[in-house]
Amino acid sequence: MKILVLNGPNLNLLGQREPDVYGALTLHEINQQLARHGEELDRLRGIGEGMQKGERIKLYFYQSNHEGVLVDTIQGAPRSYEGIVYNPAAHTHYSIALRDAIAAIPIPVVEVHLSDIAAREGFRAVSVMEEVCLAQFKGRGALSYCDALDALVGHLDAQGDRG
Ligand code: DQA
Repeated sequence: MKILVLNGPNLNLLGQREPDVYGALTLHEINQQLARHGEELDRLRGIGEGMQKGERIKLYFYQSNHEGVLVDTIQGAPRSYEGIVYNPAAHTHYSIALRDAIAAIPIPVVEVHLSDIAAREGFRAVSVMEEVCLAQFKGRGALSYCDALDALVGHLDAQGDRG
């Protein structure tokens, strides 16, 4: 099960960027924490089932500050991945191009935010992505990514069970 973990603008600065809002972890550290969570999730999923190698969670990480690059990445994702965990960052609140890219692809996308966007400035309360995503997780720092991975893997496993 190949999953793309995608991060939008300014998230390359995590660790130094507004740590009171986004925490002290760098994006690399968050990705490492998520990879460990994926291994733990695999142990839980594998119990008593003799899970096949191909079913194991494999995470691929990518970050860009550029809207067009992110559109291209989302458009191309179904060729390589079964789902996307995505923090659209500032694009969350206005990028119809990225929303349309998500709506155009057949694989599920789960939206993630480190901060609680509903509890901050008014303009952050609106997500143009939410409607086209499988679910939204926010306000739990790095754990928001873990919550998103749980939801995505649960969804993909359920789809697999239905055949
Ligand atoms: C963010 C919230 C956005 O409003 C902001 O522009 C970000 C990060 C978050 O993870 O909390 O860059 O997506």
